[in-house]
Amino acid sequence: MHPRWQGQCRDCGEWNSLAEEQVVKSSRKSKATKIEKPQKLSEVSLEKFSGFKSGIGEFDRVLGGTLLPGSSVLLAGEPGIGKSTLILQAAGQYGSNNLNVLYISGEESAAQVKVRADRLKVSGENISIANLTDLHAITAILEEGGYHLVIVDSIQTIGNRQFDSPPGTVGQIRESAGRLIELAKKNDFALFLIGHVTKEGIVAGPKLLEHMVDAVLYFEGDNQHFYRLLRPVKNRFGSIFELGVFEMTPLGLIPVDNPSNFFLSGYNEQERSGSVVTASCEGNRPILIEIQALVSPATYGTPQRVAGGIDSKRLSLLLAILEKRGGVPMGNNDVFVSIAGGLKLTEPSIDLAVLTAIVSSLRDIPISPKMVISGEVGLSGEVRPIGMADRRVSESAKLGFEKIILPKQAVDSMKSKKIELIGVESLEKTLELIFW
Ligand code: TYD
Ligand code: MG
Repeated sequence: MHPRWQGQCRDCGEWNSLAEEQVVKSSRKSKATKIEKPQKLSEVSLEKFSGFKSGIGEFDRVLGGTLLPGSSVLLAGEPGIGKSTLILQAAGQYGSNNLNVLYISGEESAAQVKVRADRLKVSGENISIANLTDLHAITAILEEGGYHLVIVDSIQTIGNRQFDSPPGTVGQIRESAGRLIELAKKNDFALFLIGHVTKEGIVAGPKLLEHMVDAVLYFEGDNQHFYRLLRPVKNRFGSIFELGVFEMTPLGLIPVDNPSNFFLSGYNEQERSGSVVTASCEGNRPILIEIQALVSPATYGTPQRVAGGIDSKRLSLLLAILEKRGGVPMGNNDVFVSIAGGLKLTEPSIDLAVLTAIVSSLRDIPISPKMVISGEVGLSGEVRPIGMADRRVSESAKLGFEKIILPKQAVDSMKSKKIELIGVESLEKTLELIFW
């Protein structure tokens, strides 16, 4: 707490990070709080704890299977990415499963939401809509109960009129979200808060909200591509290693059940140097995707290392390993690496594919388009074991690939009639096998 205006936070040293907050006496009547006696864990009733399902597989899975009554979920993403579209489609599904949904729209009028619902073929059965931004009006409605699911689109538009600061400021977001989350728990409805984040970084709002809610889902993608990813970054009730894939179409978001087919759709099977297909497990599901590298002599100054879709520090590290352990001097070359389709991959199992793509481009030797390469590369050039190798193998076989290069340990304990398994121990050996 800082009692007066200050430019710098004296706790963390950050500039301009402090926000003014009004202290308002709570207008709620201070009823004597009922003290709940501790109970035996084995006797806690789970009666009210069966969750809601939308029936949209890509959505439910990311939520951990079901949505629990009383829980709160933040759906965050850049403006225009499709958050309102996604949540309206989900609301339509929840509604057709006989759940009462309340859609509080602070940004769009009821008519605007209706136009979108019509376009998305969402009947609106069991969905009530209210165009509200005043926290008190909203809480009054929610106090009455009767809803299984409440959507607030967006939390940045909601505010307490007693505050001087406008909606969207840190104090307002904290107050509004806090009240809504509390009500969700009390009245047993599931709550979706929609939050905008900006490209430059994450605005104070959603970051602050992450601590308050049970689950945080990021909806991402970019304007040049039509796919959208739903990625959990926190989930108290499920795994954060899931990934929902959707395609944005004029008729709304369509779940992509087979992401490999989708992301490899532009992959042409002609031999080209610098192109390698890898099997990356984002979540529990393997996605086959093409990694492209371009190595060319630097025209001036320090050579450039440009990474698209993978971490640029990881790329620098991999290039150092390639020089030192793989015996491939990169010299004065520019190196560009990108993931086809603009997808972002965070899993280290793509290391070996990135490095082979780079060497393929450097030497101008194509790699067989029927081959998949997966493996993490360690600092001494060793190829380290990766998880879910069996899933990567079966996905590759399913899509008609003929060979897969994997860490030796994985191959030793596996058999496949459908695809040739090649186990490798080190980067050096892999390069020998492919290029020499
Ligand atoms: P929207 O859901 O309004 O984004 P957000 O709530 O995250 O700000 O979606 C905005 C974009 O999505 C808009 O530019 C148009 C596009 N869109 C489609 O391509 N198809 C559709 O069916 C809909 C409803 C939107
Ligand atoms: Mg919106």
